[in-house]
Amino acid sequence: MSAAPPAAVHDNTAEPVLVVDFGAQYAQLIARRVREARVYSEIVPSTMPVAEMLARNPKAIILSGGPSSVYEEGAPTVDRALFEAGVPVFGMCYGFQLMATTLGGTVDNTGAREYGRTPLHVSKPGSTLFEGTPAEQSVWMSHGDACSAAPEGFTVTASTDVVPVAAFENDEKKLYGVQYHPEVMHSTHGQLVLEHFLYRGAGIEPTWTTGSVIEEQVEAIRKQVGTKRAICGLSGGVDSAVAAALVQKAIGSQLTCVYVDHGLMRKGETEQVEKDFVAATGVQLKVVDAKKRFLDALAGVSDPEEKRKIIGREFIRVFEQAEAEIVAEGSASGEPVEFLVQGTLYPDIVESGGGTGTANIKSHHNVGGLPEDLEFKLVEPLRQLFKDEVRMVGAELGLPDEIVQRQPFPGPGLGIRIVGEVTQERLDLLRDADAIAREELTAAGLDREIWQCPVVLLADVRSVGVQGDGRTYGHPIVLRPVSSEDAMTADWTRMPYEVLARISTRITNEVRDVNRVVLDVTSKPPGTIEWE
Ligand code: XMP
Repeated sequence: MSAAPPAAVHDNTAEPVLVVDFGAQYAQLIARRVREARVYSEIVPSTMPVAEMLARNPKAIILSGGPSSVYEEGAPTVDRALFEAGVPVFGMCYGFQLMATTLGGTVDNTGAREYGRTPLHVSKPGSTLFEGTPAEQSVWMSHGDACSAAPEGFTVTASTDVVPVAAFENDEKKLYGVQYHPEVMHSTHGQLVLEHFLYRGAGIEPTWTTGSVIEEQVEAIRKQVGTKRAICGLSGGVDSAVAAALVQKAIGSQLTCVYVDHGLMRKGETEQVEKDFVAATGVQLKVVDAKKRFLDALAGVSDPEEKRKIIGREFIRVFEQAEAEIVAEGSASGEPVEFLVQGTLYPDIVESGGGTGTANIKSHHNVGGLPEDLEFKLVEPLRQLFKDEVRMVGAELGLPDEIVQRQPFPGPGLGIRIVGEVTQERLDLLRDADAIAREELTAAGLDREIWQCPVVLLADVRSVGVQGDGRTYGHPIVLRPVSSEDAMTADWTRMPYEVLARISTRITNEVRDVNRVVLDVTSKPPGTIEWE
């Protein structure tokens, strides 16, 4: 692979659209929608001084919704200077009301509330925001206060039955606002309205694409790493795979990946990393076969927390050893290993409070969580990306679908899906049952609807069955299909009985020692997704 830097790359991230976060969950969704419009966006806290925002050279600023009322004491405010800097601004919901009050409009605490789907009447159909959208459209509202008069210089472009001013626009100053949430799907033309603001209102070109992300990152990684070497731990998951593939594209053989085979992966997953990932990327991979070591360490242990600790501890030891070997082996160039590649994503950064600056390594409960005393500089090529963007980058880099579209899988692997002691025999049995369930779910087209479906072996439970000519005394397998947005909460997936029936029949027929398949119908909370 050529190490020559590409021709001049336009750096989209140098002039982001800033999404000012006024609380609640809206800012992340808005940032994603802006990126779906192929414009790079970043989230900043509402406490950031305006001068600091402007120092980022934003192409536009979006004020998000939030849970407060502009009349509440201590509710977040915005400095008027934000509207006077000549930067286009779009206020949504709370951001709209702030804009109205700050610029001299009227917002009344009338008690006139609107929640949920609401009809919007567009009074200026050809306006910058509403061009090409119907005069009557459905939008998502959630507010108590209502704007009754727009600030001077603004044109009112939409209303609802309850709110006289539901949208206003000032083309001269490039200031726009809507009372509703254009970012949610229930606002039927929300994405178009947002795009109109970005393209027509702010005059931004849609240039942020997966291809541009790759080019920018490749250049940034080359600049950061120079001629030094880097290592990256592969877990089999999406994030580490895409991070490694990007770094590989940037620095080629200066990168060495490490894959610790702890023997707790599902059927075919280790081969996916060893063969398919290597074939797709050409990455240098050091595989450490630590299966026996993990089994020995887990022998006789049934307590879930104890198992997690052992797996985490052994993982770090094996990784450290591999890393020491790579450092000691050196390379033809004699350059030292100075960098560690991590698959940190944008939500990790936003949620840990740092929109910019250096990330702390997320310790999480991830088995990929590495020892804190490793003296490496971090390379985090995904730290600006959301999960769906990471998948797109992975696909564009030519990674196999099985890796790019993989559902979440816990670092400690099948070790925490065997209720009871982990043994080789039980692992093999669970791997077979899990493979059948996955095969049938994929065949039924349920991989998107289902967030993940842990398959659990109740190794310490036996029940009576009748199979073939005889009575059996086997183990139950639990199916735990869940639907979720972020794994913080989840519901059990109402999946078709026929698919459940096929999985049950196949598992009890094909997997020795299993004579019963049960379905977990518990939401989270109270149940966690994993059984251990
Ligand atoms: P729970 O069981 O807490 O799981 O509802 C929430 C999500 O996290 C995954 N999970 C883990 N992921 N290391 C990981 O990398 C772990 O130790 C771990 N434990 C649970 C789980 O699969 C679900 O997606």
